[in-house]
Amino acid sequence: MLDRTDPTLVSHVMAEHNELFRRLTDLRTRFTASAAPAPAVIAATVADLAELRRHLATHFAREEEGGLLEESVARLPRLAAAAGGVLRQHPGLLGRLDALVARLAAGKAGAWTEGAADFEAFAAAIHDHERAENAVFQEGHVEDLDLDD
Ligand SMILES: [Fe+2]
Ligand SMILES: [Fe+2]
Repeated sequence: MLDRTDPTLVSHVMAEHNELFRRLTDLRTRFTASAAPAPAVIAATVADLAELRRHLATHFAREEEGGLLEESVARLPRLAAAAGGVLRQHPGLLGRLDALVARLAAGKAGAWTEGAADFEAFAAAIHDHERAENAVFQEGHVEDLDLDD
């Protein structure tokens, strides 16, 4: 019989995902608030995106070090391919955020509108990523982890 997952591990992952989604929602509000924002608003958005990038890099590094994904594979080895697949998405997701920050920081004409579209695509990719990750966590655990997606 498998041990139950440490509830603090689950709540930690949940807290990080909630924090991530809060940041994404705040950024979406910034992008949709104005079609032609003042330079100070663009600078604040770039700063928030950089902060999101730091949060995400820390979150990804923690997932890569072990935790729920590793535990899921240990319980159910056939999940190895799915777990490897989600982990391999991490560098590409960070790269997309870097490209978005660079585009906005360069400040060329149209950068804000294009950046808003890039951000929407990025936010959708993060949601897909976390949903796939939660599916691996949940499948590897007999008990209901009660994860959002
Ligand atoms: Fe992840
Ligand atoms: Fe995650």
